Amino acid sequence: MVAWQDGHRTDPAACREQDQGKFEITHRDGRARLGRLHTKHGVLETPALLPVVNPNIRTIEPRVMWDKYGIGALITNSYIIWKHDDLKEKATKDGVHSLLNYPGMVMTDSGTFQSYMYGDVEVGVDEIVDFQRTIGVDVATMLDVFSRPDMKHAEVEHAVRETDARAPASLKAAQDTMLNGPIQGGIHRSLRQISAQLMGQHDFAVHPIGGIVPVMEQHRYKDYAKIMMSTLPLLPPNRPVHMFGCGHPMLFPMSIALGADLFDSAAYALFARDGRLLAPWGTVRIAELVDWPMLMPCVAHYTPADVRAMPALEQENLLAHYNLEMTLAELARCKQAVRDGNIWQLAEQRSHQHPALREAFLWLTTPPAMQRGIRPDLFYTDRDAARDTNGDQGMWEDAWDWVVWSQQTPRSGGVLWGGDDTFVRPHTQKARRLLHNRWQPIEARRKAVIFHGIRGPFRERLSEVLVWLKHHLSDVQVLILTPVGLVPISLEDLNPFAHIDAPSWVLQHRPEGLWIQRELERLGLHECTFATVNVASDGMKLRLEEALEQLEIGNHDVHASVDREDVETARHQLRIDQAVDKQMVLLNLNRTQAERLIEGCSFVVNREGRVKNVNGREGLHLLSPRLRDGGISLTNHGAQRILDVRTEPLPTSLPDTAWWGSAGKGPAVVVVSADAEPFVRKGRNVFHGFVAACDGWLAPGEACLITDEKGALLGHGLAQCTATEMAVFTKGIAVKTRGGVASPKKE
Ligand code: GUN
Repeated sequence: MVAWQDGHRTDPAACREQDQGKFEITHRDGRARLGRLHTKHGVLETPALLPVVNPNIRTIEPRVMWDKYGIGALITNSYIIWKHDDLKEKATKDGVHSLLNYPGMVMTDSGTFQSYMYGDVEVGVDEIVDFQRTIGVDVATMLDVFSRPDMKHAEVEHAVRETDARAPASLKAAQDTMLNGPIQGGIHRSLRQISAQLMGQHDFAVHPIGGIVPVMEQHRYKDYAKIMMSTLPLLPPNRPVHMFGCGHPMLFPMSIALGADLFDSAAYALFARDGRLLAPWGTVRIAELVDWPMLMPCVAHYTPADVRAMPALEQENLLAHYNLEMTLAELARCKQAVRDGNIWQLAEQRSHQHPALREAFLWLTTPPAMQRGIRPDLFYTDRDAARDTNGDQGMWEDAWDWVVWSQQTPRSGGVLWGGDDTFVRPHTQKARRLLHNRWQPIEARRKAVIFHGIRGPFRERLSEVLVWLKHHLSDVQVLILTPVGLVPISLEDLNPFAHIDAPSWVLQHRPEGLWIQRELERLGLHECTFATVNVASDGMKLRLEEALEQLEIGNHDVHASVDREDVETARHQLRIDQAVDKQMVLLNLNRTQAERLIEGCSFVVNREGRVKNVNGREGLHLLSPRLRDGGISLTNHGAQRILDVRTEPLPTSLPDTAWWGSAGKGPAVVVVSADAEPFVRKGRNVFHGFVAACDGWLAPGEACLITDEKGALLGHGLAQCTATEMAVFTKGIAVKTRGGVASPKKE
């Protein structure tokens, strides 16, 4: 909460002592995260921009940044302070916060960037960290060795190894001051990976990605994306990632979508000096402007011509404010997008602003096979442009899994179609892969009818036809074709498949037969012949008749009605199909387990005929399909029954995330320590630090079972993280508990 008094913002409260240096996640959208970094000068909400303040030239006063803009942290350079006697003396005597007249979190850099710009610096490795600690900074930076993109492999390797070698002495000098451990490696994927692994083993508080300033200056955004993809998956996820020197708002959405937490910017001031304005779509010169690219509060009373007429310093100061306001506005937009679950869509939209950014985005979202010029998917044919010829495809697969696995499914709401990009959004990919990995068709099905042509729901338009098909042709697989792939009709309310807001020609597009055949195979429907029916066309029943003929299923009158009793039986069976299929995809049960769980079940149905509750044979409420997002809500009874049918041993450790090899093993189990038991039983959330073990296939947004160390069910809930994250976070919510099982003693 930001508190203001008489135009001044109150000073921040220090975090709790035991929390100092901890980082927690409060919201996430795939890899993008909103977090809180706990420091002695307040709890910094991330993603955050740390404006660079040169202690000699304060274009915007730090106090103004705090008071007017609510900026919670800034970065300055300890080497500059150290080199200037007057600054050094004041900082040593009164501390860096007093020197800058700033009450929030202060991060300092170490002089590495000066060595890159001007040659060697004269300060020692431990001396500069010791100095930063003495002047009371919140986050200090070690003296890393800068790696430039034009350096030879051997030189960059030296920078990586030397930076790592300096880490122990730097950490020792830092004592209990939080320390930045920069990642170097130039544009060499393997060196970035080595650097991430080496630096991640030391006890750093934050990991800046170093050596990227020249990459950004040269608009090499594809290299920037590659650096992120080779580094971030290997860093300890409980430490914030800082993009060193990245302050152009154009790069925020993509960076945040890939997991960046902190940015720092001298750009707001440097560009202002040069008469340039920052915008989310690039940089604009004031010299050519009649109107503002966006009207920011600081220029509300001026036209660009008014500002051009101002004295140079006044102009520079106003443009610096403009740039800062624009940068903060884009950051706020990104944060809201993370909350709304559409940061990737924002990155996708922004990627069209600059050809180099688009190139980076295409590289990110283009499967490796396609990058080698092979087209695995006939559905999408125009991504060849992103083809990569420098042998970097190998990294794509793993790092992309890291992005895709962390997407929350299912989600609620409509999905905006964005051309080809819709298909390769990580959320779409996650939904497809869960479906392909987990859904098991009934073996015997060799024929499929595929409906398409409208945005979902199909169920209303098809209700009669589905009953007819179930009654007469129950071994025909019914599917729907959506702009992002085929899905069994029973799963039509799973986002994003039939939820895509697209023009009708997209919905009515029928891809080539070969593509459909491949989709069927991905669903495990091998050697399945199919026919399609456009639901949007006139005479849908006639089209169905033609389809059945095409499938050589003759002698059926699709216009004939079904007896009332048979209608009820068919509807019951359709509901069973839906419950079984959803359990497979959303609870990761295999078909046999899913069928057993609801054997002899009954349904409570609402006025529209949709299932509200699924009750087991004994009448106990087991689960409910969620209308909001197509998910499943478990009850305690349902959770217990699922735990009872589990054949996997209970987890005994906190393993690394195991991406896709877990199909059919049931929802992940989270084992909590004895301290947490009474809270979980009362339905309270599980916090990091109280988890003793979990399954490797735990994923954010997915249902999980919560047990004690002996395997007794304590509750169930929705996981907030992956297994790898579970192993390292010590603060924040690990599982949002949805049901707690009361202690048997008290019953
Ligand atoms: N500022 C911008 N890039 C870097 C870097 O690689 N290291 C340090 N210490 N500061 C930077």
